Amino acid sequence: MSSPFLWGVASAAFQVEGALTEDGRAASVWDTFARRPGAIRDGHSPAVACDHYHRWEEDADLLERLGVNAYRFSVAWPRVVPQGRGAVNEVGLDFYDRLVDALLERGVTPVPTLFHWDLPQALEEEGGWTSRDTAHAFAEYAGVTADRLGDRVGRWITLNEPVVHMAYGHAFGVHAPGRTLDVPDVLGVAHHLLLAHGLASRELRSRGLEALLTNNYSPVAPATGSEADAGAATAYDALHNRLFTDPVLTGVYPDLSAFGAEEVPGVLDGDLELVRGSVDGIGVNYYNPSVVAAPGPGAGLPFDFGEVTGVPTTAFGWPVVPEGLGAALDLLVERYGDALPPLYVTENGASYADTVAPGGHVADPERISYLEGHVGAVEAARGRGVDVRGYFVWTLTDNFEWAEGYHQRFGLVHVDHATQVRTPKDSFAWYRDLIASRTGS
Ligand code: NOJ
Repeated sequence: MSSPFLWGVASAAFQVEGALTEDGRAASVWDTFARRPGAIRDGHSPAVACDHYHRWEEDADLLERLGVNAYRFSVAWPRVVPQGRGAVNEVGLDFYDRLVDALLERGVTPVPTLFHWDLPQALEEEGGWTSRDTAHAFAEYAGVTADRLGDRVGRWITLNEPVVHMAYGHAFGVHAPGRTLDVPDVLGVAHHLLLAHGLASRELRSRGLEALLTNNYSPVAPATGSEADAGAATAYDALHNRLFTDPVLTGVYPDLSAFGAEEVPGVLDGDLELVRGSVDGIGVNYYNPSVVAAPGPGAGLPFDFGEVTGVPTTAFGWPVVPEGLGAALDLLVERYGDALPPLYVTENGASYADTVAPGGHVADPERISYLEGHVGAVEAARGRGVDVRGYFVWTLTDNFEWAEGYHQRFGLVHVDHATQVRTPKDSFAWYRDLIASRTGS
């Protein structure tokens, strides 16, 4: 019997858990970065977030009410292996053990992500992702976590959006660890992330488990018909959409010569053989397409962002283009053909300035319309024969949106971050009804 389509929601440890110093958890790069003056909008603190570390049961009940059959969450590396390598914190693992049991009791398949950007600070101090050793430490942590949960969890995601962690965290400096490295060093970071995925995948598969890699995909269009804009679009596409997917599916890095890089540094014999074919599924996070133009004189990068015009935007200012999700899925099929494993839309959602009206009602018609359009795009893609096996809304509860703090509300459930009161929005009921209509539950 083939497994059912996964209707889920997704979250990430640092964005929801809080309890940053409890039960043996050590600091991550995000704990450190969030304390930098000016790093987080209005100085919002991640210390409590959604208090999910203490309210996990209430959140599991919400998932049951929502009727999802899958929940994507992330495991915090600094809870499980606080110093990044070496001693294992069993109490930290106990938390995920309880969560997995609570999900299974409610008929929800757990889909954990092993790295959603919260690198143990101790490893950062030894070079973080600029060091090859970090990839080996990650594999060790993956093995430890799989040993504890692998009897109940079959499908794992190694990394979340490595390209975003690489670029925002190591080139632009607007995410942790807040580095602004030069292009060759940034590409070295990419390679160590890729290697970490490959080594972790080997650990998972040797235990009979599936390894997925989740990337952010954004179809790219040139701003005009000019050759210069077309070249810029190709360069950005290579970086954003191909940097991690090409090597795992074809064993070769894309052409990055537009970035002045003839080759990715730090690639040793055997690395690309290790990563090639190392995925049992590709996770697609999709929010919006991109328009790209040639850079102005003196720019450091071979592209500049243009604007997607003529469509509504979310509170983040992101353009709402549901067909872009269909295009992203088609592009993967077109590019990788038979080498493409099953696809899972592991994130899709939108932020709006939701408020709770007297009586506890949260009307979010724009989110419903966003989700409706994007679910439609997934179903149309499946109708064309694209092998998509799941769809996860980002996210269950309004949470800590990285450098934006609590300003961007992406949840199906409103959270008052002063009281931790959770109020399901209209989109919660909408998604519940949609799932029921698709699964007959
Ligand atoms: C992708 C990231 O994986 C997630 O952490 C973030 O909250 C959403 N995008 C929205 O920005």
